[in-house]
Amino acid sequence: MIPDKDKEELRVRSIRNGSVIDHITAGNALNVLRILGITGISTAIVSVVMNVPSKRLAFGRKDIVKIEDRELVPAEVDKIALIAPQATINIIRDYEVVQKKLVVLPDLITHVVRCPNLNCISNSAEPIYSKFRVLDSFVLRCSYCESIIDSDIATYLI
Ligand code: CTP
Ligand code: ZN
Repeated sequence: MIPDKDKEELRVRSIRNGSVIDHITAGNALNVLRILGITGISTAIVSVVMNVPSKRLAFGRKDIVKIEDRELVPAEVDKIALIAPQATINIIRDYEVVQKKLVVLPDLITHVVRCPNLNCISNSAEPIYSKFRVLDSFVLRCSYCESIIDSDIATYLI
């Protein structure tokens, strides 16, 4: 019998160096990639696991993203908090987890989501980045026009 933990390892192998974003709310792995600017033309080696069983998360499912040879910086970690507030970021060096951080919801987020109000100055031709105050998990308020985003944040990601 293969222990559950090892079965997980068989699914996607350990990485030597980089970042593992674990405990992502199921269904949000692709949004995490988007936040990190990883697209089809990126050269990074990235593994994505979706809907694997998790005892810790609601509905018992989680996504995992492993990015090789890149260590996420705090600003990136904060953005991930927006869509996956229970995520853990593991920094891996030479196969060892050298740092494990919980994501933290920032107070202000700049240039991460666009304002739903088409007349907002942040959507105009002016060179102004969108700015939202984070009121609560999943509730954002535009600092320019006070529009609220309180559902489907992922659809507003820039
Ligand atoms: N991981 C990896 N490559 C490594 C080391 C770890 O891909 N060289 C991955 C593991 O598969 C896991 C995550 O990084 O998804 C965290 O590893 P670890 O802390 O060993 O796992 P857990 O103890 O299960 O973590 P937690 O307590 O956060 O659930
Ligand atoms: Zn606005």
